[in-house]
Amino acid sequence: MFQSSEIYGGLNGCWDYGPLGVELLKNIKEEWWRFMTYRDDIEGLDASILMHPKVWEASGHVENFTDPMIDCKQCKARFRLDTFAESLNEKKKKKALESLHENLKSNPDLYQQLEKLTVSGDNSEGKSDDDVFESILENNELGSYLISELNCPQCGNKNTFTPARQFNLMFKTFIGPVEDSGAVVYLRPETAQGIYVNFLNVQSSSRQKLPFGIAQIGKAFRNEINTKNFLFRTREFEQMEMQFFIKPGEDKKWFEYWKEQRYNWFISLGMSNEILRYHDHSKDKLAHYAKEATDIEFKFPFGWGEIEGIHNRTNYDLSRHELFSGKSLKYFDEESKEKYIPYIIETSAGASRSFMAFLTNAYYEEEVNGEMRSVLKFHPRLAPIKAAILPLVNKDGMPEIAKKIEADLRKYLKVFYDDKGAVGRRYRRQDEAGTPYSITIDTQTLDDSTVTIRERDSMNQVRVSIDKILDYIQNKLIF
Ligand code: GAP
Repeated sequence: MFQSSEIYGGLNGCWDYGPLGVELLKNIKEEWWRFMTYRDDIEGLDASILMHPKVWEASGHVENFTDPMIDCKQCKARFRLDTFAESLNEKKKKKALESLHENLKSNPDLYQQLEKLTVSGDNSEGKSDDDVFESILENNELGSYLISELNCPQCGNKNTFTPARQFNLMFKTFIGPVEDSGAVVYLRPETAQGIYVNFLNVQSSSRQKLPFGIAQIGKAFRNEINTKNFLFRTREFEQMEMQFFIKPGEDKKWFEYWKEQRYNWFISLGMSNEILRYHDHSKDKLAHYAKEATDIEFKFPFGWGEIEGIHNRTNYDLSRHELFSGKSLKYFDEESKEKYIPYIIETSAGASRSFMAFLTNAYYEEEVNGEMRSVLKFHPRLAPIKAAILPLVNKDGMPEIAKKIEADLRKYLKVFYDDKGAVGRRYRRQDEAGTPYSITIDTQTLDDSTVTIRERDSMNQVRVSIDKILDYIQNKLIF
């Protein structure tokens, strides 16, 4: 990975994928596409990034896709209120809460509000101490009291914060040459809306019946206030989203189905139950469109973080588009002879966040014969390079055989030819890139046309005849 525009000092929240990175990303997207769309009840779509501005009014993003934020008047640092508590020191948080309680004793109304938030914020509701802190900050009056007790995490000054303000996360631009309000368009903050506005186009052209889904992979943009943790929160990222259209009343069943399917997808590609979990959203934490939501979280080095959201979006989005466009988005159910707006269960994974999760999951440092090796134990289907071709020495006809093997395999697989340095060093280089198979052409090859194939994780070697190499590797790539 490289910083975007690195030679100009980089652009915050944007990253570029290098030669190996782009292969890994592409493989993740391909696996998702295969898993989600190679079934008879899901169709694919690729909608444009720029859409009619009314889409974002209908979707609620113009009004609701905001984060409350505060600025430090002294150093100009900006903080999202919902993650502000995380950046504060535990002792200081405790002290600020104590003095808030103390100061409000003379104001029974506010004191009662504070008590309510603190008590209902008890863990019986599944709220953490930081959640309680955040609820207090989000309350206008209590929040301004609490903020005046806090020091800025960046410059250390006390009582320098502005009141909380709403900040819309959508990037705006203009369509055509005139930069006025009538020409405003947005860079999509989620790919989902491109699917909703095409619901009837896809349904009628594919002649699908409910329940069925539409899947799409594409870029999304959010003007995040604080980007952080490498690829975890960026301003430009890629989503892999599927919207499953169902009959109202069947939402519970399909929500549970997709929760399980999506969790198992991560497991099937090499993740384990120890580093994956569900996190159900409490009612007050739901996005404006959702009735029920669960995150699939991954245990990153910095802690648990969402990699995919599964949402019950009810008939909210299609009803809103019907209202704003004036076009019917009802589905005619031939069985029941009813017309209705379908409910939607959404699965929304970040391709870039999944990339970071798969990369973290694969990284190992281990001792081999008294030496440390770094190895990326990617699932073979995700590995950027599938096989390396290594002639033991650059003479005795070995390079010629190796080049022929390379040319034959390259038609089907991403392979890498390496004849530089000792073979042990070459294996290590492939371990670092996560290449699952290394093919070595040695003296025995000259006699019997066999090669060794070394497996990256076990480091075991088997002898395989040259004409069976492709079969051998392709069999390993099948689930
Ligand atoms: N259509 C629903 C939706 O967009 P979301 O929970 O806001 O829901 C879904 O986003 C997924 O997109 C997240 O689970 C995450 O993987 C990814 N994502 C969201 N914001 C991101 C950001 N700023 N940087 C990287 N990935 C992000």
